[in-house]
Amino acid sequence: MSEKIIIFDTSLRDGEQALQASLSVKEKLQIAIALERMKVDVMEVGFPISSPGDFDSVREISKKIKNTTICSLARCLDKDIDVAADAMSVLNNFRIHVFLGTSNLHMYSKLKKNFDEIVDMAIRGIKRAKRYTDDVEFSCEDAGRTCLDNLCVIVEKAILAGAKTINIPDTVGYTLPNQFSNIIHTLYQKVPNIDRAIISVHCHDDLGMAVGNSISAIAAGARQIEGTINGIGERAGNAALEEVIMAIAVKKDILKVHTTIEKKEIYRVSKIISQICNISVPPNKAIVGSNAFAHSSGIHQDGILKNRENYEIISPKTIGLQEVKLNLTSRSGRAAVRHRMQQMGYKNSEYNIDELYASFLKLADKKGQVFDYDLEALAFINNQQENPEYFILDHFHVKSSSSGFSTASVSLICGKNTITKFSTTSNGPVDAVYQALHKISGYSMLLQKFQLFAKGKGKDALGQVDIIVEYKNRKFHGIGLATDIIESSVKAMINVLNNIWRANQVILQLNKFSKEK
Ligand code: KIV
Ligand code: ZN
Repeated sequence: MSEKIIIFDTSLRDGEQALQASLSVKEKLQIAIALERMKVDVMEVGFPISSPGDFDSVREISKKIKNTTICSLARCLDKDIDVAADAMSVLNNFRIHVFLGTSNLHMYSKLKKNFDEIVDMAIRGIKRAKRYTDDVEFSCEDAGRTCLDNLCVIVEKAILAGAKTINIPDTVGYTLPNQFSNIIHTLYQKVPNIDRAIISVHCHDDLGMAVGNSISAIAAGARQIEGTINGIGERAGNAALEEVIMAIAVKKDILKVHTTIEKKEIYRVSKIISQICNISVPPNKAIVGSNAFAHSSGIHQDGILKNRENYEIISPKTIGLQEVKLNLTSRSGRAAVRHRMQQMGYKNSEYNIDELYASFLKLADKKGQVFDYDLEALAFINNQQENPEYFILDHFHVKSSSSGFSTASVSLICGKNTITKFSTTSNGPVDAVYQALHKISGYSMLLQKFQLFAKGKGKDALGQVDIIVEYKNRKFHGIGLATDIIESSVKAMINVLNNIWRANQVILQLNKFSKEK
C-alpha cells in the first residue's frame, strides 16, 4: 500500500537565512500563503531567537496560516525554545524543531562538549519543548558525518524524551545516495523504539546529491522530506522540493509512496519565491526551469507533435504551466488579462485587477505585445506597492553625453504632499539620479549590488533593475521595472527608500512600545 510522505518546507528558514538581504514580514507572508496553497504539510518559518524581525514574521505567519503546521527552529537552549514557543503562541498546535550537532567535528570543535553532554542537552531541549507542544522534532545536525553507533544512541534517547519526528540532516551535503540510505537503514535495524517516531531527512546539495539522497532515504524508510522551493538555502542549497515531489509522483510504482501536494501550484510558487528572493531559476533547472518543457531540435519537435510522451515524462499542466496562450496587446480587455493571470495560477484576490490593468495598458501602448513575465512583474510590483509608500516619484530629468558629465534633477513626494527636488552632476546618469535620491531621503547608505535584466527581447524588452543597498549594517533590496532603464533604476532606489522608511517606522514603534512598558 502507498504510504504518505510528509513534505516539510524550510524555504522561509534555511532558504531565507542564505539570502543576501533578509525578507520583510510582508514578503514572508506572501510566500507562506503560496506554500499553504500548495498544501505543504509543515512549513518552518524562522528561527525566532535570531532577530526581532524573525520573531515578528513567525508571529505574523502564525496568525495567518490555518491549514499547514507551523514550525520554528531552536537550539537546545531554554531561551531559544521559550522564544520559539512565544512566537507561535497564537496557535493551538505548532511544532518546535530543536537541533544539536552530533558529529565529532561539531561536538568537539564547535560545541566543545563530549557525547554524553550532547545527549543530556538534547534530552533537556526536547523535554523543554514538550512543555509547549506535543509536536517536537529533533535534528542531529551533521548526521551525515556522525558515527553511526552514536547516531543510534541519540536517536533512541531523543524518542524516549518525547520527540515525535527525528530528522537526519546531511548538513554539509557530504554523502552519496547509497551511504545515506545505509544510515537510515541502520537506524531502522538498530534503534529499538524507532517505530514511535517519523524519520525525516534534510539534505544539502554540496555534491549535487540532495534530491537523490532524499529519494534514496524514502526507499530506506524515511517518511518526511525537508527541503526548499527552487532548492534555495545555505551554500549550494537544500533539496529542491518540486523535484522531490515530482520524482515521487513519476516513480510512485517503484517507491510505493505519495504526497498530498497540490502539484498545480508548483510553477507559481517557484516564480513567487524566485521573484521575492531575487534568485533567478536557471533555464535548465528540472521541473521549473524555463526550458524544462521546451523542445528545440527539429527531431524533438516532430516527435512531440506526434505524441508528447516521445520526449516528455511530465505534462507541463501537472505543475500549473498552461500551453495555450492569448496574445495580450492594448486591444485586450481586462477579462483577457484576468484570464491569463488565472491560467498562470494566480487567484483574483492576489492582485488588484484595476491597478494591474492600468499598468498593463501603459505597457502595452509602449511595447505592443505584453508577455507572461511582463504581467507577472507588473502584478508583483503592484502587490509590493500595497505597502504604505512614503517616497513617491514626482518626476526626474537626466542629461547625459559621451564627452562630459551627466546631470540629473529628481523631484519626490515625501510623505503627504511635500515635494522635494534636488539636482546633481556626476560621471554617469544612474549615479547622478542616485545621488539626488540620497540627498532627498537623507539616508546614508551604500549601493552594494546593481543588476540590470532585460525582460523580453529587442525593442520589446523591459528593463528590470535589482539593487542591494546597505544602510545601518542592514541590507535592503529594491526592484524597478520600466521600458527606460534609468526609470527602472530610479524606481528600484525609491523601492529601497520606502523599505528603509518602513523599517525605521517599525523601530520607532518598538521603542515607543518598550518605553510604555
Ligand atoms: O542543515 C542542517 O543541519 C539544518 C538543521 C538546523 C536541521 O538546517
Ligand atoms: Zn539545513
